Amino acid sequence: MASRYALLVSPSANRVYAAAAPRLTVAELGVLGETALDDRLGDAIVEEIAGVEYVTFAGDLKEDDLAHLANVSTAFALFERVGDDTFRPVPLRRLDCLDDDLLTILKYQGKTQELFTKLLLNVTVLSSCSAGRMLTGRLRVLDPLCGRGTTLNQALMYGWHASGLDVDERDFDAYAAFLPRWLKDKRIKHTAQTSRLRRDGSTLGRRFDVRFATTKEAWAAGDVIRVSTALVDTRRAAEAFKAASFDVVVTDAPYGVQHGSASGGRLQRRPLDLLTEALPGWVRLLKPGGAVGVAVNVRTCPRAEALAALADAGLEPRDTPAYGGFEHRVDQAIVRDLVVGVNAV
Ligand SMILES: C[S@@+](CC[C@H](N)C(=O)[O-])C[C@H]1O[C@@H](n2cnc3c(N)ncnc32)[C@H](O)[C@@H]1O
Repeated sequence: MASRYALLVSPSANRVYAAAAPRLTVAELGVLGETALDDRLGDAIVEEIAGVEYVTFAGDLKEDDLAHLANVSTAFALFERVGDDTFRPVPLRRLDCLDDDLLTILKYQGKTQELFTKLLLNVTVLSSCSAGRMLTGRLRVLDPLCGRGTTLNQALMYGWHASGLDVDERDFDAYAAFLPRWLKDKRIKHTAQTSRLRRDGSTLGRRFDVRFATTKEAWAAGDVIRVSTALVDTRRAAEAFKAASFDVVVTDAPYGVQHGSASGGRLQRRPLDLLTEALPGWVRLLKPGGAVGVAVNVRTCPRAEALAALADAGLEPRDTPAYGGFEHRVDQAIVRDLVVGVNAV
């Protein structure tokens, strides 16, 4: 018989995101239910119990299903509901293999909210044919508009390989300074180097490479996690990395507004144009069965047009009702949504 569960959503430092988080969790559970959990998860709802909001659902769940639930972006605590008013705690087996300040130390304008970044990574991986390897594999993640590395750091938290591209030199330098310093502070064995990125005899940009291992034994055995970023225009992504080498491409696209502008934002070049120009290169870097997940500001990049751009690049857009539940307000100039497309196997 199906058990009943109540999931307590992480309190977020960001009040606007905290208000949207239970509803976004319902959508994330919807995608989890129709992918890795193979319909073993009933519909989730937001429910107030004793004055506190929970996301509740029923399901006939196996151990691995509970491990997937532990990695839901907002999962703070999970309870099995026994009878009318008893909550039995369910241990959360998270993938996290590093301290979580990796994601929270850097604070800067334009940073993508950490819980939303985790949600976007989760939903994209679940949509790909690597969903079954999520709990055990070492996936390869590319963020082709990586800024100062929020997606990369979330991938590293999961113990996965991470690569990124950005055209902003300050972002590239900030991440290249931050990661080795953080690893050193945590006494984690690593190597780091920056070099020129050369293609066909000319310089394409700069690159930054890190290798580290979470234990001394893993380091000695050569079981390392690799991070690489490149200072390159994302429209040249296919020249910076090896073709068909990433399980997922996950990114938060430019919002088309000037960050920090209180008066509604000044428009930059159209984000949809960048997406349309860059997607063919990103798809070339994707393995068969891989997925692309992109966060967009629907005010400057409407959902239908973003889905059409994915389809034009040869991907199969995912658009079931669960995928339609991610739109949320960030500020007066930004209403954020996400779109996902899957590469043919
Ligand atoms: C929304 S921000 C991503 C923020 C990132 N997720 C973080 O938390 O640091 C979008 C990024 O796209 C980058 N970008 C914009 N146009 C680009 C291009 N043509 N090539 C590479 N990067 C670009 C910007 O420099 C910016 O860092």
